Amino acid sequence: MTEVAILISGGGSNMVRLVESMAQDHPGRPCLVLSNKAEAGGLAKAQSMGVETAVVDHRPFKGDRAAFGHAVQAELDRAGAEFVCYAGFMRIMDPGFAGAWRGRALNIHPSLLPKYPGLNTHERALEAGDTEAGCTVHEVTEDLDDGPIRGQGRVPILPGDTAKDLAARVLGVEHQLYPKVLKRVLCGDHTPVELNEG
Ligand code: GRF
Repeated sequence: MTEVAILISGGGSNMVRLVESMAQDHPGRPCLVLSNKAEAGGLAKAQSMGVETAVVDHRPFKGDRAAFGHAVQAELDRAGAEFVCYAGFMRIMDPGFAGAWRGRALNIHPSLLPKYPGLNTHERALEAGDTEAGCTVHEVTEDLDDGPIRGQGRVPILPGDTAKDLAARVLGVEHQLYPKVLKRVLCGDHTPVELNEG
């Protein structure tokens, strides 16, 4: 059984699906939900599902990313974490932390990487006139949104779509994709998961 820690910053909708997916017939177990924000709505959801939670506020570290990484690592060690899922976690971890978890950490990003790393992905896809969008689960490396791709989900961009419309459509696929990728990766299978809502 692999002890899985999930990092969030907000509502944690992907975290909820990941925890639910590990409830039975799964090689992973949620050992911790950690947020950099005490007010993150996902913390109460995790507690209601019986998952231990922790908060490591990034602000006292004033941009000392390595010190923040050490504080997060201390909580992961305390919980016995063996694998990390970033799920709506809005902090960029220092290379030392990312390197320590290389091969044992996944992130979900709301674009079809390598297109649109970083922020405002839906606005950028609409601005570019793309006809499809989607999400990517990738291994976390020292480079932002750049690790080996372990799954992608595609959705159509429809006439008149706003960024909000597109975000909602992509999020629905994220909720299907991430649990499938986590289970496959924890089973040692690196074959990318491909979902297509087109
Ligand atoms: C989603 O767009 C996800 O792609 C990104 O963070 C956003 C919120 O995710 N990683 P969640 O609802 O907190 O899981």
